[in-house]
Amino acid sequence: MLLPEKALTLFGRDAFGFDVSGSDFDVFGPDFDVSGPDVMTPQGNGTVSIPAGEETLMSRIADLDSGRAIREHEFRAAVGCYASGLTVVAALDEMGNPAGLTCQSFSSLSLEPPLILVCIGRRSSSWARIEPTGRFGVSILAEEQQEICAAIGRSGGDKFGSIDWHASADGAVHIEGALATINCRISTIHDGGDHLVVIGEVMGLTVRDAGAPLLYFRGNFGTGAS
Ligand SMILES: Cc1cc2nc3c(=O)[nH]c(=O)nc-3n(C[C@H](O)[C@H](O)[C@H](O)COP(=O)(O)O)c2cc1C
Repeated sequence: MLLPEKALTLFGRDAFGFDVSGSDFDVFGPDFDVSGPDVMTPQGNGTVSIPAGEETLMSRIADLDSGRAIREHEFRAAVGCYASGLTVVAALDEMGNPAGLTCQSFSSLSLEPPLILVCIGRRSSSWARIEPTGRFGVSILAEEQQEICAAIGRSGGDKFGSIDWHASADGAVHIEGALATINCRISTIHDGGDHLVVIGEVMGLTVRDAGAPLLYFRGNFGTGAS
C-alpha cells in the first residue's frame, strides 16, 4: 500500500535535522496543531498514528463556503494531501559547481514535443545559478534517498559535498542511484505567483530498471513499501 492508513513513517524533521517550519514546504504551518487526538498522534518513534475513522484533517480546517480568505496553513494542508514523488533539479552553474534544489512540483507535460515542468520558488538561490545556464537535470529520487532529498532541500551551504552525483556532458547534474534522470533545456518560464513555472524541453533520459520511489505526503517523506 502506498501510504498506510494508520502509520505513516516520518523522515526529515528530526531524523535529519531538517526543519521545514516556515519553509515553503511546511504543509501544516507553524501554527497548525496536527497533534490533536482526532487527527494524528505523534508516537515519539518516528511514526504518527492516524485514526482509522472517517475524520480527516480537512474536516477540522477551512470552511471554504464561508467566503473568507483561505489561510496559508489551510492551503498547505489541502494541497499536502496530494501525494507525489520527489526530484532534484540540478545543473553545473557557470563556475562549474553543482547547484540544485529538491523539487516536489515536477510533472510531465507533453509527449510531442517532450516537455516537463517544475515549479521553482522565486527566492531559490540555486535556481538563480541554474537559470543562466539554460539547462538542468531532473533526478527522480528512489526510496532510499531521503537524506539526499533533505540535504538538497535545505537552503544554502554545500549541498552536494556529501552526495554522490555526476554531471552529464551538457552540464546537467544527476544524483547517483536516482530512479530516472531527465536532461532539459529551459524552454519557457511562466509567472506562477511566488513561484516560476519552468518548462523544460527533454533532451536526454536515463531510467533505472528497478527500484521504488521516494514519496511525499502531508509534509512527510514516505516510501511505497507496505
Ligand atoms: C520535500 C521538499 C520538496 C520541495 N519542493 C520544492 C519545489 O517543488 N519547488 C521549490 O522551489 N522548492 C522546493 N523545495 C524547497 C527547495 O528545495 C529549497 O527551498 C531550496 O533548496 C531553497 O534553497 P536555495 O535557496 O539554496 O535554492 C522542496 C523542499 C523539500 C524538502
